[in-house]
Amino acid sequence: MKQSGILQLTLLGATGSIGRSTLDVISRHSDRYKVFALTANTNVDAMEKLCEQWQPEFAVMNDESSATQLGSRLRRKNIRTEVLSGVSGLLQVVEDDAVDCVVAAIVGAAGLVPTLASAKAGKRVLLANKEALVMSGKLFMDAVRDNNALLMPVDSEHNAVFQCMPDSLTAHHTSVKMTNSEAKSGIKRILLTASGGPFRTWSAEQLRDVTPEQAVNHPNWDMGRKISVDSATLMNKGLELIEAYWLFDMDIANIDVVIHPQSVIHSMVSYEDGSVLAQLGNPDMRTPVAHALAWPERIESGVEPLNIFDVAKLDFEQPDLDRFPCLRLCYEAISMGGTASVVLNAANEVAVDAFLESKIGFTDIARLIEQTLNAATITQDVSSLELILEADVTARTITNKCISAMH
Ligand SMILES: NC(=O)c1ccc[n+]([C@@H]2O[C@H](COP(=O)([O-])OP(=O)(O)OC[C@H]3O[C@@H](n4cnc5c(N)ncnc54)[C@H](OP(=O)(O)O)[C@@H]3O)[C@@H](O)[C@H]2O)c1
Repeated sequence: MKQSGILQLTLLGATGSIGRSTLDVISRHSDRYKVFALTANTNVDAMEKLCEQWQPEFAVMNDESSATQLGSRLRRKNIRTEVLSGVSGLLQVVEDDAVDCVVAAIVGAAGLVPTLASAKAGKRVLLANKEALVMSGKLFMDAVRDNNALLMPVDSEHNAVFQCMPDSLTAHHTSVKMTNSEAKSGIKRILLTASGGPFRTWSAEQLRDVTPEQAVNHPNWDMGRKISVDSATLMNKGLELIEAYWLFDMDIANIDVVIHPQSVIHSMVSYEDGSVLAQLGNPDMRTPVAHALAWPERIESGVEPLNIFDVAKLDFEQPDLDRFPCLRLCYEAISMGGTASVVLNAANEVAVDAFLESKIGFTDIARLIEQTLNAATITQDVSSLELILEADVTARTITNKCISAMH
């Protein structure tokens, strides 16, 4: 924290679900946090309101014409926020020396460049944008370590794992300590919990007829559309598996996915001596956001305390990789290594968009990802951002061709 005691924050993806949760938490702590910059893609109406409320130094719209619109609306209202656009605008507001903390909450691959830049700029990075880490893996973790950034997981499962890790491991920069195998001794397994999504009990036949409206209606969490579909296919859990692999430097064989429909336990860590530590709470993203903002301190988040008597029962099940092949494909992508995770992520993003636009069915999502993984050339060299972005673009072209061939 700065001398003034106020942490300056850039919020990437301010108009989204994680963006809203973050602003709700910081609205309770104006003595600790100041909004330096807010960013979005095209949602000018929401950004106008946020700029009026938060009066940030900068607002960035990724889309240029949205930036022009926002700029003229703010000028009419005499709001002094400077409006920037595109990737250059996003980079400017994460790299600025005045910024202490970047909340990476853009959805999908679009978040990779600014999220990686915030690690390179040595910021406190609150990572919600799991796709960025899935795509860039080692490159991202090296950037965190080499530039003394502090990487705090916001995904509720990874934040829970972080909370269940011994202090000796998390006392400094997460990634640096996680790669210290000596410090890690004692930890046997990570148990990543998953709600199982809205179709946990549905048969393979029923899954074929799932509509976008049904898929975005998650039983426990209120999230953006893309992650809601990912939760329904279990792709979200697969992406989280890859995220945990990089964040905690853990062999994939030692990470279990546990279906836990109540979403009360957000994940667990199992130790050598037989202890299993779990983090529990109501399913509300303001808890991990508040934890990641304030760690090693604790601050109020606005989340109702968990009433353990209301919960009463906790269930656990094995995931079904036949009905939910996206999870299986994530295991396969990890074992392929190199650009496979980039290809998997790109194919998923294209397929989920097509599903949300009712161009393909729910079960086509996994089929398209598999086809793309089979058709793409997987290379092991992922040592630069350029190589990663190239693999992403190529995979998108393949998936789009597969979709065209279906019609
Ligand atoms: N929601 C959750 O509970 C949750 C939990 C754990 C992890 N996460 C992760 O957090 C990230 C955000 O999820 P979300 O649910 O908050 O998504 P969301 O509600 O869809 O919000 C996405 C945000 O990203 C912006 N955006 C979209 N495309 C962009 C682009 N091309 N360039 C720049 N900005 C862009 C959107 O701006 P516009 O509004 O202008 O489109 C919006 O501000 C995802 O990676 C997700 O996996 C979310």
